[in-house]
Amino acid sequence: MVSVKLVLACLFSLALSKPTARNLLPHESLEDIPAGFQLVGPASPDTTLKMRIALVQSDPAGLEAALYDVSTPSSANYGQHLSKSEVEKFIAPTADSVQAVNSWLAENGITATQLSPAGDWLGFEIPVSQAEDIFGTQFSVFAHQATGMQTVRTLSYSIPAELQGHLDLVFPTINFPDPNANLPVFRHAVSKRDVTPAANLTSDAVPSSCADTITPACLQALYGIPTTPATQSSNQLGVSGFIEQFANQADLKTFLSKFRTDISSSTTFSLETLDDGSNSQNARDAGVEADLDVQYTIGLATDVPTTFISVGEDTQDGSLGGFLDIINFLLEQDSPPQVLTTSYGQNENTVSRSVANNLCNAYAQLGARGTSILFASGDGGVSGSQSASCKTFVPTFPSGCPFMTSVGATTGINPETAAAFSSGGFSNYFGTPSYQASAVASYLQALGSTNSGKFNTSGRGYPDVSTQGENFEIVVDGETEGVDGTSCASPTFASVIALLNDRLIAAGQSPLGFLNPFLYSTGASAFTDITSGDNPGCNTNGFPAKAGWDPVTGLGTPNFAKLLTAVGL
Ligand SMILES: *[C@@H]1O[C@H](CO)[C@@H](O)[C@H](O)[C@H]1NC(C)=O
Ligand SMILES: *[C@@H]1O[C@H](CO)[C@@H](O)[C@H](O)[C@H]1NC(C)=O
Repeated sequence: MVSVKLVLACLFSLALSKPTARNLLPHESLEDIPAGFQLVGPASPDTTLKMRIALVQSDPAGLEAALYDVSTPSSANYGQHLSKSEVEKFIAPTADSVQAVNSWLAENGITATQLSPAGDWLGFEIPVSQAEDIFGTQFSVFAHQATGMQTVRTLSYSIPAELQGHLDLVFPTINFPDPNANLPVFRHAVSKRDVTPAANLTSDAVPSSCADTITPACLQALYGIPTTPATQSSNQLGVSGFIEQFANQADLKTFLSKFRTDISSSTTFSLETLDDGSNSQNARDAGVEADLDVQYTIGLATDVPTTFISVGEDTQDGSLGGFLDIINFLLEQDSPPQVLTTSYGQNENTVSRSVANNLCNAYAQLGARGTSILFASGDGGVSGSQSASCKTFVPTFPSGCPFMTSVGATTGINPETAAAFSSGGFSNYFGTPSYQASAVASYLQALGSTNSGKFNTSGRGYPDVSTQGENFEIVVDGETEGVDGTSCASPTFASVIALLNDRLIAAGQSPLGFLNPFLYSTGASAFTDITSGDNPGCNTNGFPAKAGWDPVTGLGTPNFAKLLTAVGL
């Protein structure tokens, strides 16, 4: 083998003066430098780039068909989730692709590490000079104007002609980091409180204080979430943490002793870290998002075994690197959590189509294995993950991916209405999936010409569901504070699903897995339709909530008793 490679190397060096002289074909490009970034200058040739490549997956269409087969209530195979190796068969690149990519790596003296269990992701580190040669491009330093953060990226790259059809994408290249992570809008609710308590709560069970601040008791009363402990130890709820945020044990204890006096205040979570994720437990450094997410999972999904997954921040990779890492980390596990909640996201237009597709397919892989993937829809109404100026509506990622469940936010008790910040709309990357086709068509018909030309009428509509998302009481660094955001809604809905899974597993049945085909069919009647409010942005009133599904509150808010019936319990 060694001698063959040497011969090959000699032949290539005779035939070609520089590797760039090889037949490179343009692969991916951006039209412009992404908004908010500015060109600083050429990257230093010696800078080390941490690169990842994705090989073309052998049968993503087969995986999609298998996903729907096990996730659609009317299917004979509903609930028959796939094993790790069954999923990997659809994903593993063909032998031809592996051969083509390996010989190209070897020719260039690159040793790569396998990053995903199916072998579709490889990683390596090379200097800018070599990356520029092999991908026929120039890397530059770009600065994010608002934060000053610098990043080495390019606006286009090429790949060798013989790798077309084998090499799917090179990361991060054209994927700029998004410094606007999807964080909750943090506010000191108590001092800013200027809310007239609703005089007229319909349900006697909902404490009157819930008009003012949301606690676990409010959500339990509103949605009928049981307070009785879960019983199944195999049932797992995963909570993602990014950007160096960790969940503070002492804050959780204080939170439980204040807001869940009926359970032990020592109830806690397990921790997994990757990419040097932080967990100092120094109360001052605890993250608002991490504390919120853990307090409203442990605080609602009573006794469901919960794991906080702290993903470190690699400034080179940007936020998407962490998204790729946590998914490959979970795909590696024999028993990944049956529910994963993530309150981070970014605008779809800041993610390349290839990376968006790859991550979306990764959610399909976990879904096929029986994991419900939940993400907060974003906090900028129709303007994206955070409020921003815009001419056309800005969909968020990954909410536009059809293989996950996007959670929007509501506010108020009587009536419960859409929260104005609740991101919702239609993807420009992913078409309307069949499970929601009639729900979306009905909405578009009711909408008429409102917002015409500002959004993509053939895109996947989101969010799918919603829960309360304003004035959540949390404990951070020992203090009780109020927070708003779809970040509040995703852990709340995750807890509902985790408690349903506990009942299903106790009854000897499968967990729910990928939820959407269920939610839009037999599950739809288990939601309280939210029909008022809207999500303004881009100098419009955004989308109005309407009867039936809408791109502000989705199908509505959950009713636990009706969900039990809908899942057949
Ligand atoms: C009570 O609710 C009804 C219907 O939602 C509303 O019309 C009425 O104004 C409310 N009364 C008060 C005192 O808020
Ligand atoms: C609208 O969505 C469709 C379906 O995903 C997509 O093919 C098309 O490119 C999108 N249009 C624009 C302008 O982004």
